[in-house]
Amino acid sequence: MSSDVNGTHQPTEERWTVQRLLEWTTAHLEKNGSESARLDAEILLAHSRQCERIQLYTQFNEELATPERNQFRELVKRRSRLEPVAYLVGFREFFSLNFIVSPDVLIPRPDTETLVIEALEYLKEFPRASVLDIGTGTGCIPICLASRMKMISLTAIDKSPAALNIAKQNGQKHQVDDRIRFLEGDLFEAFNHENETGKNQKFDLIVSNPPYIRIDEMETLSPDVKLHEPAMALQAGVDGLDIIRKLIQQAPAWLKPGGVLMMEMDSLQSGEISNLINNNSQYESCKVFKDLAQKDRVVFAKTVQENISG
Ligand SMILES: C[S@@+](CC[C@H](N)C(=O)[O-])C[C@H]1O[C@@H](n2cnc3c(N)ncnc32)[C@H](O)[C@@H]1O
Repeated sequence: MSSDVNGTHQPTEERWTVQRLLEWTTAHLEKNGSESARLDAEILLAHSRQCERIQLYTQFNEELATPERNQFRELVKRRSRLEPVAYLVGFREFFSLNFIVSPDVLIPRPDTETLVIEALEYLKEFPRASVLDIGTGTGCIPICLASRMKMISLTAIDKSPAALNIAKQNGQKHQVDDRIRFLEGDLFEAFNHENETGKNQKFDLIVSNPPYIRIDEMETLSPDVKLHEPAMALQAGVDGLDIIRKLIQQAPAWLKPGGVLMMEMDSLQSGEISNLINNNSQYESCKVFKDLAQKDRVVFAKTVQENISG
């Protein structure tokens, strides 16, 4: 008799090698509803063994030491309850950088790399730009921008103090925290506590990946997301546009004349958001960028040269 990965006894003398654990865990996680069971198993096992995932392939015949196996067993149990792998290992890669994550923050998504790519493209002409990120979460957007553009200055706002704490840790990890001002608050109200200079600052570019899920859509999300990621990072009212509408209306007051607002969105919201911008006299133009799947993903709105909101 030997015990299986969950500690129950199996009538087998087989050794728990890396290969066997990967096979057993893949089948177990699949049965429990993971859509990426093999990848999950590899990431969790590599994390328990403190090695790179690719190294597991040269260790197939090795047995796990008891502490590694205990840690792996705990992680597999939690993944069986569909806790996201990124929360279990405590980080997620985004735009080739590793970000600290916890259940206080949305796990950065590949979709959001489109916003970073388009923002970097726009900033090529403005190497000393001042940039504001609203709803910063892990801080992945401003940190990627700061890492690529050494002379821009950034401000990052989030309503969640716990998220902001993670964003600060990520800023330190990537050594850009001295160029990012982190502010807590509800959208632009975050500036209420700033001194006069802070309150009167205008930006060249405002970026945001705001919450944009409809309330009725929340039920349709996968359990990983619905049960474990922060609702405040996801839902935005009956039509998913509560925050986006406010950003479109309020951003021009915080932009220099001719400044730009760029937001991530759901492709299905593209027409409605473009209408909101085109019908707002504070903006002179609007365009939409597609993601790698050719879906409308980022809206770009340029304010009029003479900023009528002052
Ligand atoms: C979709 S997440 C984006 C996180 C991160 N920027 C990213 O792209 O992964 C939205 C973020 O907005 C924050 N948020 C939600 N409502 C807000 C508000 N009214 N004011 C400021 N931040 C808000 C949430 O706490 C969350 O961190």
